[in-house]
Amino acid sequence: MDYRPIPKQVDVVIVGGGVVGSAVAYYLARRGLKPLLLERNRLAGEASGAAAGMLAALAEMEETGPLYELARRSRDLFPELAVQLRELTGIDIALMRRGMLKVAQTPEQVDKLRATVAFQRESGEEVRWLDGQEARECEPALSSDVIGAVDIAGDGQLSAPSLSLAFAQAAVALGAEVYEHCEVLQLITEQRPGVSRPRIVGVETDAGTITSEHVVVTSGVWSSRLLERSGIRLPLYPVKGELFSVISHRPLIHRTIFADSVYVVPKGGGRLIVGATMVPHRFDRAVSYGGISQLMQQAQKILPGIVETEWERAWTGIRPQTPDGLPYIGPFERYEGLYAAAGHFRNGILLSPITGQTIANLIASGTEEEELKPFYPERVQEVIT
Ligand code: FAD
Ligand code: GLY
Repeated sequence: MDYRPIPKQVDVVIVGGGVVGSAVAYYLARRGLKPLLLERNRLAGEASGAAAGMLAALAEMEETGPLYELARRSRDLFPELAVQLRELTGIDIALMRRGMLKVAQTPEQVDKLRATVAFQRESGEEVRWLDGQEARECEPALSSDVIGAVDIAGDGQLSAPSLSLAFAQAAVALGAEVYEHCEVLQLITEQRPGVSRPRIVGVETDAGTITSEHVVVTSGVWSSRLLERSGIRLPLYPVKGELFSVISHRPLIHRTIFADSVYVVPKGGGRLIVGATMVPHRFDRAVSYGGISQLMQQAQKILPGIVETEWERAWTGIRPQTPDGLPYIGPFERYEGLYAAAGHFRNGILLSPITGQTIANLIASGTEEEELKPFYPERVQEVIT
């Protein structure tokens, strides 16, 4: 429990201090509201602190559609955001905009990637197809296993833990309050006479009751459990991911290398993050021999020189996934004043600014955008009872 007494009444309660909750707090505070961010453990202690930090708006999207558009909009917010966060907090989110190479190792992967180049170009993105030789001219450490690649100029990367903490600190600098080690146990709702639907009036926490007319559930994969207690069904399931890092004492790669079953992200100080496994329906945080050795083999196939690097550490995170693959971002129909921002699966770091902006627009000015409606939670059958 935080040593300060929790406030009794606030403008907005945000439940969960990962990157999404912290982004929501930041954008609400920018709009002049005083949100309260509650985190049951430590800020960014789950997926948001584990992520590799890629802003893979193109590399991770295989088709056009609402998510592709949302991802590109969000990615393009980062250059200005990095400056704003640094000014408010002094934190450098280590934004690198050197592009990515998405590589193919089989003829089938070549066909698939070439098809993505067509729609990416059509949407105005700077992408080019490279054969294996051209890919090695860009990144000489790539092996002959790589037979083609898409050079994606616009995708970048950053430090995921720094982004989450910078959002939270910047929110505080603008008037938000943040409490760690405070768990929300229950939503409090009320049916007022003459009003068609009940509304949210606050939350019950392990440190007492807080009154608020707006509550945003940003509890990652755990959002379902909290909502279930209020009769709301919001399907989410965990997809565990394992990663490791090594230190390279000579420059190995300049850009992020993204392959079908592994990616290698070059960070400052010669660090390379290698990720990530995908294990659905697992909540445990164990680093497995099988997972790490699989990543090592895949990484070595595309970058043989990685064997000369120095081992640093391995860790895991739990991605929050939704059945239809789209995150939930928006208001609930069942209770007035209740919102969700959860289920960002492999792209929560990338999607954090647009998610924060969207929720802040809804709460601060009631602004709804047609293009964002596919993400509203009402697309699932919300009511349990
Ligand atoms: P979380 O980070 O899980 O945060 C939810 C928080 O809510 C937790 O801190 C939890 O303790 C808290 N909480 C839960 N219940 C309660 C409660 N009742 N009361 C108070 N607090 C509560 N995304 C990218 O964009 N780029 C990447 O390169 C990338 N790489 C990844 C690599 C791995 C291995 C993994 C696992 C994920 C990766 N992701 C990446 C995905 C990204 O990490 C997630 O989509 C994102 O972190 C989800 O953020 P969140 O805030 O919704 O959830
Ligand atoms: N976006 C990378 C991952 O989820 O592993």
